[in-house]
Amino acid sequence: MTIPNHATMTPARPSPGEETRLLRERISMTSAVMGVMGLGYVGLAEAVEFANAGFPVVGFDVNAERVAAVEAGHSYLADLTDDALRAEIGAGRLHATGDLSRLADMDIILICVPTPLSKTKAPDLSCILDATQSIRAGLRRGQLIVLESTTYPGTTSEIVLAMLASTGLRVGEDFSLCFSPERLNPGDTNHPPTSIPRIVGGVTPGCAETAAMLYRRVAPQVVTVSSPETAEMAKLLENTFRAVNIGLANELALLCRSLGLDVWEVIDAAATKPFGFMPFYPGPGLGGHCIPIDPLYLSWKARINGFEPRFIDLAHQVNSAMPRVVVSMVMDTLNARGRSLNGSSILVLGVSYKRNVNDTRESPALEIMEALGRRGATISYHDPYVPQLCVGQQTYSSVELDEGALHRIDCALVLTDHTVVDYKRVVEHAPVVVDTRNVTAGLVAPPAKVVRL
Ligand SMILES: NC(=O)c1ccc[n+]([C@@H]2O[C@H](COP(=O)([O-])OP(=O)(O)OC[C@H]3O[C@@H](n4cnc5c(N)ncnc54)[C@H](O)[C@@H]3O)[C@@H](O)[C@H]2O)c1
Repeated sequence: MTIPNHATMTPARPSPGEETRLLRERISMTSAVMGVMGLGYVGLAEAVEFANAGFPVVGFDVNAERVAAVEAGHSYLADLTDDALRAEIGAGRLHATGDLSRLADMDIILICVPTPLSKTKAPDLSCILDATQSIRAGLRRGQLIVLESTTYPGTTSEIVLAMLASTGLRVGEDFSLCFSPERLNPGDTNHPPTSIPRIVGGVTPGCAETAAMLYRRVAPQVVTVSSPETAEMAKLLENTFRAVNIGLANELALLCRSLGLDVWEVIDAAATKPFGFMPFYPGPGLGGHCIPIDPLYLSWKARINGFEPRFIDLAHQVNSAMPRVVVSMVMDTLNARGRSLNGSSILVLGVSYKRNVNDTRESPALEIMEALGRRGATISYHDPYVPQLCVGQQTYSSVELDEGALHRIDCALVLTDHTVVDYKRVVEHAPVVVDTRNVTAGLVAPPAKVVRL
């Protein structure tokens, strides 16, 4: 792909308004050159999405393995096939590089880098700072920069803007800056990225309008809000809403167990109400790069503003206790069969943090496997999406789910409800099944053979 260098092609420097007009024209003709920083779950998916819409896209990443994989047409995302990736590369609309000096050639730059927590559970913005520094080095008039990484309100205006404005270029006049949260839901075939409305908050109304024009090319609807802070907060509300409601479902699961009730039946019955109720389900704990982390970005920001956010912390306490609850369930289940956890063989079914994805970041399976192993159990796992898994110092490989393997274990433990796994076979052949995802509902089994959360 040959990328025109707009910075040097323009003979006489047009006025700032003129450069924005030219960028908007290039967006409308899908000829604006797009840079996507961070080729992860969000960035690679989005790079392919914009390439598929006809834009020339360059993916930037500091991870050379990811750059090489994209260039070779090998997808590492469960939702993206090699064929779909190769179609864009073959058409010359997408390629990947680690050469960040080429950011200066981009008309538009989307920042999709990680936003993890530090060891003290505070926001770690180091990737955003590094990415912004790389953009700053080549920032030029006419560029649109959009931060998409999930972060606390104020990051775009207080941090990214301050760094970019220190070049002497003026936001809204020389360059545009916005926040637009990525709302992708990996593994969710009912809601592909192209079906999800975008939220855009610009530092100026003009910035927002340019970004809205861009996202209208790939999204069914663009919701422009009054500021980047509102857009940042809206994303944190979405994820905090999930964390708090999952916390409620987890607490209800424990309450229902103590009352001898089936929490899944209770939730499904409540979910028949056609208004005012949305079902959330219990599970072995939160995982992934969003729900366990993002609410803590919000509580951190709240605290430094002197506000004590109680819901977030309570949900965090309940959700983060679930792996220990699951370990106790396994111990009690074995105990009821006259066995101890020490010396037992446990087969974990599903180690990614949610169904039908290969992402194991923050997966509760890691903590649960580590805790079971520490108590003397022999652990194996089966996950069609995760061929290998490191837990502490130990590396495991996914085992075949054959009858022999199921007969040899003392207990099967379902942690992730991948749809391709044959749970009927598991219930038939494993001595006992601890089910934290309700995959055994409807399967005929003697009551003592299945223990559900
Ligand atoms: N994964 C999801 O489902 C999801 C959904 C919505 C929003 N988000 C948010 O999107 C952001 C990215 O998440 P992800 O899951 O795609 O992360 P990821 O870890 O899968 O990918 C991020 C990529 O950025 C690269 N990177 C880091 N620093 C860089 C730099 N300075 N320059 C260029 N590349 C750099 C990393 O090497 C990595 O490949 C996070 O803020 C996350 O909270 C994630």
